[in-house]
Amino acid sequence: MDIKNKLANLSQLVRSSALGLNMRASGQPLKSSHLSQSPDSTLLDSIPLDQSLTDRWDREWLTYFLTENPRPFLVDHHHLRLIDNVRRKEAVEIYNTALVSVQGVEGLLSLGALGIWVKGADLVRKNVLEIGCGPGFLGKQLGMIAAAYVGIDYSKLALSIARLTSPPNCFYYHLADLSQITQHAGTMDTMVGRNFFIHQNYENLLWILQLAYMLLKPGGLMSADFYQGNPAIPQGVVHLARNKLDPRYPSCAFEFSIQEIEQAAKEAGFTVQNVTDNLDLQRRFVFFIKYPG
Ligand SMILES: C[S@@+](CC[C@H](N)C(=O)[O-])C[C@H]1O[C@@H](n2cnc3c(N)ncnc32)[C@H](O)[C@@H]1O
Repeated sequence: MDIKNKLANLSQLVRSSALGLNMRASGQPLKSSHLSQSPDSTLLDSIPLDQSLTDRWDREWLTYFLTENPRPFLVDHHHLRLIDNVRRKEAVEIYNTALVSVQGVEGLLSLGALGIWVKGADLVRKNVLEIGCGPGFLGKQLGMIAAAYVGIDYSKLALSIARLTSPPNCFYYHLADLSQITQHAGTMDTMVGRNFFIHQNYENLLWILQLAYMLLKPGGLMSADFYQGNPAIPQGVVHLARNKLDPRYPSCAFEFSIQEIEQAAKEAGFTVQNVTDNLDLQRRFVFFIKYPG
Protein backbone atom coordinates (compact mmCIF):
# COMPACT_ATOMS: atom_id res chain seq x y z
CA MET A 1 0.00 0.00 0.00
CA ASP A 2 1.47 3.41 -0.88
CA ILE A 3 1.76 6.29 1.58
CA LYS A 4 -1.16 8.19 0.02
CA ASN A 5 -3.51 5.24 0.63
CA LYS A 6 -2.13 4.80 4.13
CA LEU A 7 -2.86 8.42 4.97
CA ALA A 8 -6.37 8.15 3.50
CA ASN A 9 -6.98 5.08 5.70
CA LEU A 10 -5.51 6.91 8.67
CA SER A 11 -7.79 9.92 8.28
CA GLN A 12 -10.70 7.46 8.16
CA LEU A 13 -9.41 5.96 11.42
CA VAL A 14 -8.94 9.38 12.97
CA ARG A 15 -12.57 10.22 12.15
CA SER A 16 -13.60 6.89 13.73
CA SER A 17 -11.61 7.54 16.89
CA ALA A 18 -13.19 10.95 17.31
CA LEU A 19 -16.48 9.06 17.38
CA GLY A 20 -15.13 6.70 20.05
CA LEU A 21 -15.01 3.76 17.60
CA ASN A 22 -11.33 3.02 18.08
CA MET A 23 -10.72 -0.74 18.10
CA ARG A 24 -7.74 -3.04 18.65
CA ALA A 25 -6.61 -5.14 15.68
CA SER A 26 -8.29 -8.08 17.46
CA GLY A 27 -11.61 -6.20 17.38
CA GLN A 28 -11.52 -5.55 21.14
CA PRO A 29 -12.26 -1.92 22.09
CA LEU A 30 -9.39 -0.14 23.84
CA LYS A 31 -9.92 0.21 27.57
CA SER A 32 -9.24 3.93 27.68
CA SER A 33 -11.27 7.04 28.18
CA HIS A 34 -8.54 9.17 26.56
CA LEU A 35 -9.09 8.52 22.89
CA SER A 36 -9.56 12.12 21.87
CA GLN A 37 -5.88 12.74 20.98
CA SER A 38 -5.86 11.99 17.25
CA PRO A 39 -2.79 12.75 15.14
CA ASP A 40 -3.36 15.82 13.04
CA SER A 41 -2.11 16.16 9.49
CA THR A 42 0.92 18.16 10.69
CA LEU A 43 2.13 15.10 12.61
CA LEU A 44 1.49 12.77 9.70
CA ASP A 45 3.31 15.06 7.30
CA SER A 46 6.29 15.55 9.59
CA ILE A 47 7.26 11.88 10.12
CA PRO A 48 9.88 10.94 7.48
CA LEU A 49 8.89 7.55 6.06
CA ASP A 50 11.15 7.00 3.07
CA GLN A 51 12.45 3.47 2.54
CA SER A 52 16.07 4.64 2.86
CA LEU A 53 15.55 5.16 6.61
CA THR A 54 14.42 1.57 7.05
CA ASP A 55 17.32 0.33 4.94
CA ARG A 56 19.98 2.30 6.79
CA TRP A 57 18.78 1.10 10.25
CA ASP A 58 18.41 -2.52 9.00
CA ARG A 59 22.01 -2.34 7.80
CA GLU A 60 23.10 -0.79 11.10
CA TRP A 61 21.62 -3.78 12.96
CA LEU A 62 23.25 -6.27 10.56
CA THR A 63 26.63 -4.66 11.22
CA TYR A 64 25.95 -4.67 14.96
CA PHE A 65 25.11 -8.39 14.97
CA LEU A 66 28.27 -9.15 13.00
CA THR A 67 30.55 -7.16 15.27
CA GLU A 68 28.96 -7.45 18.76
CA ASN A 69 27.38 -10.29 20.76
CA PRO A 70 23.83 -10.74 19.32
CA ARG A 71 22.69 -13.31 21.92
CA PRO A 72 21.01 -10.91 24.41
CA PHE A 73 18.85 -9.70 21.49
CA LEU A 74 18.00 -13.19 20.19
CA VAL A 75 17.02 -14.88 23.45
CA ASP A 76 13.29 -15.56 23.68
CA HIS A 77 11.12 -14.35 26.62
CA HIS A 78 10.25 -17.97 27.54
CA HIS A 79 13.85 -18.35 28.73
CA LEU A 80 13.75 -15.26 30.96
CA ARG A 81 13.04 -15.31 34.69
CA LEU A 82 12.28 -12.25 36.82
CA ILE A 83 14.98 -11.78 39.46
CA ASP A 84 14.06 -8.43 40.99
CA ASN A 85 11.00 -6.50 42.18
CA VAL A 86 11.46 -3.00 40.78
CA ARG A 87 8.22 -1.27 41.83
CA ARG A 88 9.81 0.94 44.50
CA LYS A 89 13.09 1.66 42.73
CA GLU A 90 14.24 5.17 41.74
CA ALA A 91 15.34 6.02 38.18
CA VAL A 92 19.05 5.67 38.92
CA GLU A 93 18.45 2.21 40.42
CA ILE A 94 16.29 1.07 37.49
CA TYR A 95 19.04 2.19 35.10
CA ASN A 96 21.46 -0.20 36.82
CA THR A 97 19.06 -3.04 37.59
CA ALA A 98 19.14 -6.43 35.90
CA LEU A 99 15.46 -7.42 35.79
CA VAL A 100 15.86 -10.98 34.46
CA SER A 101 18.21 -13.91 34.27
CA VAL A 102 18.37 -16.36 31.37
CA GLN A 103 17.20 -19.77 32.59
CA GLY A 104 19.62 -22.61 32.25
CA VAL A 105 22.59 -20.51 31.15
CA GLU A 106 23.02 -18.17 34.14
CA GLY A 107 26.65 -17.14 34.23
CA LEU A 108 27.04 -17.74 30.48
CA LEU A 109 24.50 -15.28 29.11
CA SER A 110 23.27 -12.14 30.80
CA LEU A 111 21.04 -9.35 29.45
CA GLY A 112 22.65 -6.85 31.80
CA ALA A 113 21.04 -3.74 33.24
CA LEU A 114 17.77 -2.24 31.96
CA GLY A 115 19.49 1.03 30.99
CA ILE A 116 16.43 3.28 31.20
CA TRP A 117 16.00 6.32 33.42
CA VAL A 118 12.54 5.94 34.94
CA LYS A 119 11.05 5.01 38.33
CA GLY A 120 9.83 1.44 38.82
CA ALA A 121 6.36 2.77 39.71
CA ASP A 122 6.13 4.18 36.16
CA LEU A 123 6.71 0.72 34.68
CA VAL A 124 5.00 -1.89 36.88
CA ARG A 125 1.45 -2.59 35.62
CA LYS A 126 1.64 0.50 33.36
CA ASN A 127 1.23 0.86 29.60
CA VAL A 128 4.77 1.52 28.41
CA LEU A 129 5.80 2.94 25.04
CA GLU A 130 9.28 2.81 23.51
CA ILE A 131 10.11 4.62 20.28
CA GLY A 132 13.31 3.21 18.78
CA CYS A 133 12.66 -0.22 20.36
CA GLY A 134 15.13 -2.11 18.14
CA PRO A 135 14.93 -5.93 18.45
CA GLY A 136 12.87 -5.77 21.66
CA PHE A 137 15.64 -5.99 24.25
CA LEU A 138 13.51 -3.90 26.61
CA GLY A 139 10.07 -4.99 25.40
CA LYS A 140 10.56 -8.68 26.14
CA GLN A 141 11.64 -7.78 29.69
CA LEU A 142 9.13 -5.00 30.43
CA GLY A 143 6.35 -7.20 29.03
CA MET A 144 6.88 -9.35 32.16
CA ILE A 145 6.04 -6.50 34.56
CA ALA A 146 4.03 -3.92 32.54
CA ALA A 147 0.33 -4.09 31.69
CA ALA A 148 1.25 -3.66 28.02
CA TYR A 149 4.23 -2.51 26.00
CA VAL A 150 4.25 -0.80 22.57
CA GLY A 151 7.49 -0.62 20.55
CA ILE A 152 7.98 1.48 17.40
CA ASP A 153 11.00 1.47 15.08
CA TYR A 154 12.27 2.08 11.55
CA SER A 155 14.11 -1.25 11.26
CA LYS A 156 11.98 -4.12 9.93
CA LEU A 157 14.80 -6.55 10.73
CA ALA A 158 14.82 -5.46 14.38
CA LEU A 159 11.01 -5.52 14.60
CA SER A 160 10.87 -9.12 13.30
CA ILE A 161 13.23 -10.24 16.05
CA ALA A 162 11.27 -8.24 18.64
CA ARG A 163 7.97 -9.91 17.65
CA LEU A 164 9.56 -13.39 17.78
CA THR A 165 11.13 -12.93 21.22
CA SER A 166 8.50 -10.97 23.21
CA PRO A 167 5.42 -11.99 25.25
CA PRO A 168 1.89 -11.45 23.84
CA ASN A 169 1.26 -8.18 25.70
CA CYS A 170 3.96 -6.54 23.53
CA PHE A 171 2.91 -4.80 20.30
CA TYR A 172 5.48 -3.81 17.67
CA TYR A 173 4.99 -1.38 14.79
CA HIS A 174 7.00 0.08 11.97
CA LEU A 175 6.65 3.87 11.87
CA ALA A 176 4.79 3.55 8.57
CA ASP A 177 2.04 1.51 10.33
CA LEU A 178 0.47 4.74 11.46
CA SER A 179 -3.10 3.50 11.33
CA GLN A 180 -2.24 0.69 13.77
CA ILE A 181 -0.13 2.95 15.98
CA THR A 182 -3.06 5.37 16.23
CA GLN A 183 -5.17 2.66 17.84
CA HIS A 184 -3.10 3.21 21.00
CA ALA A 185 -3.81 6.98 21.06
CA GLY A 186 -4.14 8.37 24.58
CA THR A 187 -3.55 5.00 26.27
CA MET A 188 0.13 5.04 27.26
CA ASP A 189 1.26 5.96 30.81
CA THR A 190 5.00 6.13 30.21
CA MET A 191 7.35 6.49 27.28
CA VAL A 192 10.99 5.47 27.59
CA GLY A 193 14.00 5.92 25.32
CA ARG A 194 16.94 3.52 25.55
CA ASN A 195 19.98 4.61 23.55
CA PHE A 196 17.45 6.40 21.36
CA PHE A 197 17.28 10.17 21.89
CA ILE A 198 21.07 10.30 21.63
CA HIS A 199 20.65 9.69 17.86
CA GLN A 200 17.94 12.33 17.23
CA ASN A 201 18.42 15.90 15.99
CA TYR A 202 16.10 18.81 16.80
CA GLU A 203 13.93 18.28 13.71
CA ASN A 204 13.33 14.63 14.66
CA LEU A 205 12.75 15.47 18.31
CA LEU A 206 9.80 17.66 17.33
CA TRP A 207 7.85 14.91 15.55
CA ILE A 208 8.87 12.30 18.13
CA LEU A 209 7.40 14.55 20.84
CA GLN A 210 4.24 15.00 18.77
CA LEU A 211 3.92 11.23 18.27
CA ALA A 212 4.47 10.65 22.01
CA TYR A 213 1.90 13.38 22.79
CA MET A 214 -0.69 11.57 20.67
CA LEU A 215 -0.01 8.21 22.36
CA LEU A 216 0.36 9.29 26.01
CA LYS A 217 -2.47 9.85 28.47
CA PRO A 218 -2.82 13.43 29.76
CA GLY A 219 -0.18 13.83 32.48
CA GLY A 220 1.81 10.93 30.94
CA LEU A 221 5.59 10.81 31.35
CA MET A 222 8.23 10.69 28.63
CA SER A 223 11.78 9.85 29.73
CA ALA A 224 14.41 10.88 27.18
CA ASP A 225 18.10 9.93 27.12
CA PHE A 226 19.92 12.77 25.33
CA TYR A 227 23.65 12.63 24.67
CA GLN A 228 26.03 14.72 26.71
CA GLY A 229 29.69 14.25 25.83
CA ASN A 230 32.27 13.96 28.58
CA PRO A 231 35.41 15.81 27.40
CA ALA A 232 37.54 13.36 29.41
CA ILE A 233 36.33 10.48 27.20
CA PRO A 234 37.35 10.20 23.50
CA GLN A 235 34.33 11.26 21.40
CA GLY A 236 32.86 9.62 18.29
CA VAL A 237 30.78 11.52 15.72
CA VAL A 238 28.79 14.16 17.66
CA HIS A 239 26.72 16.99 16.11
CA LEU A 240 24.80 19.97 17.45
CA ALA A 241 21.04 19.39 17.79
CA ARG A 242 20.15 21.83 14.99
CA ASN A 243 22.35 20.00 12.45
CA LYS A 244 20.88 17.77 9.74
CA LEU A 245 20.97 13.97 10.17
CA ASP A 246 24.32 12.54 9.13
CA PRO A 247 23.90 10.36 5.98
CA ARG A 248 27.18 8.56 6.69
CA TYR A 249 26.65 7.76 10.37
CA PRO A 250 23.08 6.82 11.46
CA SER A 251 24.40 6.06 14.95
CA CYS A 252 26.08 9.43 15.45
CA ALA A 253 25.05 11.50 18.49
CA PHE A 254 23.39 14.93 18.78
CA GLU A 255 23.81 17.26 21.76
CA PHE A 256 20.95 19.45 23.02
CA SER A 257 21.17 22.50 25.24
CA ILE A 258 18.61 22.95 28.03
CA GLN A 259 17.11 25.85 26.02
CA GLU A 260 16.61 23.64 22.95
CA ILE A 261 14.95 20.95 25.09
CA GLU A 262 12.64 23.54 26.71
CA GLN A 263 11.79 25.03 23.31
CA ALA A 264 10.93 21.64 21.74
CA ALA A 265 8.81 20.68 24.78
CA LYS A 266 6.86 23.93 24.55
CA GLU A 267 6.21 23.50 20.83
CA ALA A 268 4.83 19.98 21.36
CA GLY A 269 2.69 20.57 24.47
CA PHE A 270 4.99 19.11 27.13
CA THR A 271 6.51 20.60 30.26
CA VAL A 272 10.05 19.71 31.33
CA GLN A 273 9.77 18.26 34.84
CA ASN A 274 13.36 17.30 35.52
CA VAL A 275 16.83 17.26 33.93
CA THR A 276 19.61 15.01 35.28
CA ASP A 277 23.07 15.21 33.75
CA ASN A 278 25.29 12.19 34.22
CA LEU A 279 28.73 12.72 32.72
CA ASP A 280 29.94 9.20 33.52
CA LEU A 281 27.12 7.79 31.39
CA GLN A 282 27.42 10.69 28.90
CA ARG A 283 23.69 11.28 29.19
CA ARG A 284 21.28 14.16 29.83
CA PHE A 285 18.12 12.45 31.13
CA VAL A 286 14.95 14.54 30.78
CA PHE A 287 11.44 13.91 32.13
CA PHE A 288 8.74 15.50 29.95
CA ILE A 289 5.13 15.61 31.16
CA LYS A 290 2.26 15.79 28.70
CA TYR A 291 0.37 18.98 29.45
CA PRO A 292 -2.29 19.35 30.78
CA GLY A 293 -1.56 16.93 33.61
C1 LIG B 1 20.81 2.31 19.29
S1 LIG B 1 19.36 1.51 18.80
C2 LIG B 1 18.58 1.21 20.36
C3 LIG B 1 17.56 0.09 20.29
C4 LIG B 1 16.88 -0.27 21.63
N1 LIG B 1 16.26 0.87 22.25
C5 LIG B 1 17.88 -0.91 22.55
O1 LIG B 1 18.31 -0.26 23.51
O2 LIG B 1 18.23 -2.07 22.32
C6 LIG B 1 18.36 2.82 18.12
C7 LIG B 1 17.08 2.28 17.47
O3 LIG B 1 16.24 3.38 17.13
C8 LIG B 1 15.73 3.21 15.81
N2 LIG B 1 15.50 4.58 15.34
C9 LIG B 1 16.41 5.54 15.09
N3 LIG B 1 15.80 6.71 14.82
C10 LIG B 1 14.48 6.48 14.88
C11 LIG B 1 13.32 7.30 14.76
N4 LIG B 1 13.44 8.60 14.51
N5 LIG B 1 12.11 6.73 14.92
C12 LIG B 1 12.00 5.40 15.21
N6 LIG B 1 13.04 4.58 15.37
C13 LIG B 1 14.27 5.11 15.20
C14 LIG B 1 16.78 2.41 15.07
O4 LIG B 1 16.23 1.66 14.03
C15 LIG B 1 17.30 1.52 16.18
O5 LIG B 1 16.59 0.30 16.23
